[in-house]
Amino acid sequence: MSTAISPTAYNYKVVRQFAIMTVVWGILGMGLGVFIASQLVWPELNFGLPWTTFGRLRPLHTNLVIFAFGGCALFATSYYVVQRTCQTRLISDSLAAFTFWGWQAVIVGAIVTLPLGYTTTKEYAELEWPLAILLAIVWVTYGLVFFGTITKRKTKHIYVGNWFYGAFIVVTAMLHIVNHASLPVSFFKSYSAYAGATDAMIQWWYGHNAVGFFLTTGFLGMMYYFVPKQAERPIYSYRLSIVHFWALITLYIWAGPHHLHYTALPDWAQSLGMAMSIILLAPSWGGMINGMMTLSGAWHKLRTDPILRFLVVSLAFYGMSTFEGPMMAIKTVNSLSHYTDWTIGHVHAGALGWVAMISIGAIYHMIPKLFGRAQMHSTGLINTHFWLATIGTVLYIASMWVNGITQGLMWRAINDDGTLTYSFVEALQASHPGFIVRALGGAFFASGMLFMAYNVWRTVRASNPAEAKAAEQIAVVGAH
Ligand code: HEM
Ligand code: HEM
Repeated sequence: MSTAISPTAYNYKVVRQFAIMTVVWGILGMGLGVFIASQLVWPELNFGLPWTTFGRLRPLHTNLVIFAFGGCALFATSYYVVQRTCQTRLISDSLAAFTFWGWQAVIVGAIVTLPLGYTTTKEYAELEWPLAILLAIVWVTYGLVFFGTITKRKTKHIYVGNWFYGAFIVVTAMLHIVNHASLPVSFFKSYSAYAGATDAMIQWWYGHNAVGFFLTTGFLGMMYYFVPKQAERPIYSYRLSIVHFWALITLYIWAGPHHLHYTALPDWAQSLGMAMSIILLAPSWGGMINGMMTLSGAWHKLRTDPILRFLVVSLAFYGMSTFEGPMMAIKTVNSLSHYTDWTIGHVHAGALGWVAMISIGAIYHMIPKLFGRAQMHSTGLINTHFWLATIGTVLYIASMWVNGITQGLMWRAINDDGTLTYSFVEALQASHPGFIVRALGGAFFASGMLFMAYNVWRTVRASNPAEAKAAEQIAVVGAH
């Protein structure tokens, strides 16, 4: 057999690499999540060393789960989906390989610099300027590969999943570049180009849209491909998906100020952010319903297909977190929830329930196809993983609701003479049981990832290279 790459074959190599790294970074990022959750239960686990303290490991957790785990899942699935729905190979193998190695380099850079304390201090944008520049270069290359592939598509229309991936790529580039504008004073330190309330507003315009475009729009691209594929049903409404797309991207970009309620930000901006957040419920639920209803006539498959269960339960958590978010954006509700564990619970309803579950479902769907196998090594293990993930998420969210509302109420309780009823430490003591339950829930979720790693390893090991190569051939009919 010729070793030359056939132009009629998909580039699955880069998809395989990103898919495997999704599992690896998932284990590390979530394992670190369990560790920092345990530090909140047993502070001795900070070990009294600067680089192992909660304050330094927390941003490493967020970078690993969002950019390493979530990012690799987005790269893997977008490269897979764009090729299959456009029935063409990626426009450039070398640029695609550069995005893989460049992205891994950024992550390794984060693993080294964040525990050492090098940080811009901007949440989710902590990486100092040399890494931020590398990230920008990788990202622009990603855009070239993705949109370049779309321009050489063999299909007439651009499948809606690609619209979502495309918006996620463009807006993430814009957010990252604008928010990272800064003045370097040394190789490891830079100062933001913005000051005061403007800096805060730019940061949360970035932060919220990192949620909206990185953690939502990209994963909706995933939803629009993998839910119909796994359910073997066409998407419920193509028209709704177009309305969903335009409404979502138009509204998300305005909602950032809900992170800055009752701050120095002008009051009108806070109210605007609140109003836009409430309206955002509509497109969010429109998308969720479109995904869910795709199962019409296929609900019975949930009994036997744990991959579909991952995908559908992720949509349920998506619906839940996008109901909770608009409620928390209401100023009076936010005055109770802000700074409390309620926010942390909301974050993980989205992060574990939605982002992680849909990624896990998509990876289980892709792995056998990427390695020329009919199915994963063990469906039973996927099922075990599903229950560990679901129970883990519920324990996490429920404990944080209890903690959050307890903290909010204790902090605001005042005596008749106007003094505070509870000290901060009393609220912290009341939170301790919730911290234990959260760590337990996290351990459930993270251990599920170990089952996944074993199952993936067994599937890959059973793969025969010739079969895997054959799987790359572009089928002319019904490829997407
Ligand atoms: C085993 C699973 C996980 C555990 C145990 C865990 C645990 C934690 C803990 C303890 C914190 C700090 C909370 C605090 O400061 O009080 C945190 C923050 C955070 N985690 Fe996780 N995490 C997990 C998975 C994930 C995943 C998969 C994602 C994203 C895809 C994620 C995204 C975040 C974010 C964005 C924050 C910062 C929240 C904020 O600042 O409001 N986590 N996590
Ligand atoms: C309609 C959709 C949503 C709205 C309106 C919304 C609204 C909010 C609000 C009001 C907060 C609390 C801000 C504060 O008090 O500091 C928040 C925090 C957060 N949300 Fe959402 N949310 C939505 C969906 C989601 C989803 C789907 C995810 C995850 C995938 C998510 C991730 C986060 C994160 C990471 C934070 C914490 C930010 C931080 O302080 O570090 N949100 N959201």
